[in-house]
Amino acid sequence: MFKKLKKIIFPVAKFAFDKYTLKQRSYTYEGIEVKISAEVFPPHFTLSTKILLDFIKPLNLTNKTFLELGCGSGIISLFAASKGAKVIASDINQIAIGELKLAAIKNEIDVTIVYSDLFENLVDKTFEYIIINPPYYPKAPKNDKERAWFCGENFEYFEKLFAQLPQHIAPNTWMILSEDCEIEHIKQLASKNGLSFALILEKSVVKEKNYIFSIQKL
Ligand SMILES: C[S@@+](CC[C@H](N)C(=O)[O-])C[C@H]1O[C@@H](n2cnc3c(N)ncnc32)[C@H](O)[C@@H]1O
Repeated sequence: MFKKLKKIIFPVAKFAFDKYTLKQRSYTYEGIEVKISAEVFPPHFTLSTKILLDFIKPLNLTNKTFLELGCGSGIISLFAASKGAKVIASDINQIAIGELKLAAIKNEIDVTIVYSDLFENLVDKTFEYIIINPPYYPKAPKNDKERAWFCGENFEYFEKLFAQLPQHIAPNTWMILSEDCEIEHIKQLASKNGLSFALILEKSVVKEKNYIFSIQKL
C-alpha cells in the first residue's frame, strides 16, 4: 500500500526535490555545518545519512582509523573526526571534494580528503571503520551528480566495489541500504567475492525500512 502511494507521489516529490536542491543548501548536525550544491548528494530528505550519523554518535572513535567511501557532503566524515577519529573521506565527485575541503576549514576539523574511484587511490590502505552509503538504483549515471544515485544498469558499482573490498576489509565495514533497492541481488554480488552481509540495524523512517549491514569475509 505504502509502496503504491510512493509511486503516485513520486513525480510531485521529485519535482519539489529537484527544485529545492538547485540552490546551495546548508545541512547541520551536532553544530557541524556543510554547504551542499546541486551536484552533491543532499542529506536533507534522504534518510540514510542521518541514520548513519545517529548510528556512529555513541561510538568511541578516538584515534580510530575511519574511511567514508563516497563521502558526498562529508558530514559523516566531519562528525567522525570531531569525535577523534583519523578520517579519510573519499569521493569520485570533484565538486563534493572541493566543498568538503572548504567545510573542513570552516568547521576547523581535520579530515584527509581524497579524490578516488572506489579504492583506486587508496591502494594498500586499511581501516578500523569503513562506512558506505552507496548509490543503488540500477541505471547508468550520466554525470557525477547521478553517481550519487545510480549504480549502473548491471550494478557495476557493486561489482567493482566487492572485487576491491576484500583487500581493504575493516573489522567494522558498514553499508546502509534501503528496502527500495535490490538487497538480495547486492548480497549475491558480495558473496561472489567471498563477502557476507550481517544485519546490525533496521530502522523505519516514514514507513521506509533502512538497514545497516556489517560486511565481512566469508
Ligand atoms: C548516496 S551518496 C552518499 C554520500 C554520503 N556518504 C552520505 O551518506 O551523505 C553516494 C556517494 O558515493 C559517491 N560515489 C559514487 N560512485 C563512486 C565511486 N565509484 N567512487 C567513489 N565514490 C563514488 C557519490 O559521488 C556520492 O557522493
